[in-house]
Amino acid sequence: MKELGNMLELKNMTKILGDKLILKNVSLVLNKGETLAVIGPNGAGKSTFFKCTVGLLQPTSGDIIIEGQKIQKNSAEIKRKIGFLGHESFLYNTLTPMENLKFYGKLFKVKNIDEKATRLLKEVGLHYFKEIPIRSFSRGMMQRLAIARVLLAEPDILMLDEPHTGLDQEAVALLNRIIKQKQTNGTSILIISHDFDQVHELADRVTILNKGRITETIQLTSDIDLPKMKDWYAEAVAQK
Ligand SMILES: Nc1ncnc2c1ncn2[C@@H]1O[C@H](COP(=O)(O)OP(=O)(O)O)[C@@H](O)[C@H]1O
Ligand SMILES: [Mg+2]
Repeated sequence: MKELGNMLELKNMTKILGDKLILKNVSLVLNKGETLAVIGPNGAGKSTFFKCTVGLLQPTSGDIIIEGQKIQKNSAEIKRKIGFLGHESFLYNTLTPMENLKFYGKLFKVKNIDEKATRLLKEVGLHYFKEIPIRSFSRGMMQRLAIARVLLAEPDILMLDEPHTGLDQEAVALLNRIIKQKQTNGTSILIISHDFDQVHELADRVTILNKGRITETIQLTSDIDLPKMKDWYAEAVAQK
C-alpha cells in the first residue's frame, strides 16, 4: 500500500430517507492506493452510503472531497473519477456485451473503445459471448460484464458494493485477481462487503458502519489474522 494522502474524503455525511435518519455524520478517508473495506450488519446503511458517495442519491448534508476538492452536486468529476459497481448492473438487456461496452465507452469518452472492449471482454472471460444479447446471461456473467464496464474508464477510485455476492468460485477468483491488479496499479478501492474472507484477503483497512454510524476502524497489519478480525468485528458490533 502506498501512503500518498487522501484520494477521497467524506465529511459528516447525513442521509434522511422518508422520516428515517439512515446515515449519521459519516466521515471517512480513503487514502491514495489503499483498499478500505466497509463492513456492517444488514440495514446498517452501507448501500445508502455507497449511493450517496457515487452520486446515485443526494446526501441530505455533508461534503464529498476528491483529491482535496469539494465536489458540487451531480458533478461530472465524481462520474469521471469514481468507477462503481452496485446492486444494479446498469447494463442493457437487449444489447450484446460488446454493444454495452461501446455505449459506455462513448459516454465516458474512452479512446480506442473497440480494442479496449475486446481486451476487457477477454479479461473477464466473456469473449465467446460478446455478440449475444445479455438478457439470457447468468448473474455471474452479468457481474463479469459489469466489472468490464467499470474498468473501461480506468477510474482512480473503485467503489464496490457487495461485489462477491452471488458469484461462483471461479468468478470470485477472477474478481479478486482484477482487484489485486488494480491495487498494484495504485487504484484506491472502497469495498462494501459482509464476506469476511474476501475482506481479509483484499483490504488494507477495515471500518465498521453500524446503525448509520462509523464506529471503529482497524488496520489489517500482519498480526490481524482472519479469526482476530472476526473477533474484533463481533465485539465492536455487540457494544453499540
Ligand atoms: N428508499 C428508502 N426509503 C426508506 N428507507 C430506506 C430506503 N432504502 C433503504 N432504506 C432503509 O435504510 C436502511 C439502510 O439500508 P441500506 O443502506 O440498504 O443498508 P445495508 O446496505 O447496510 O444493508 C435500512 O433500514 C433500509 O430499510
Ligand atoms: Mg447493502
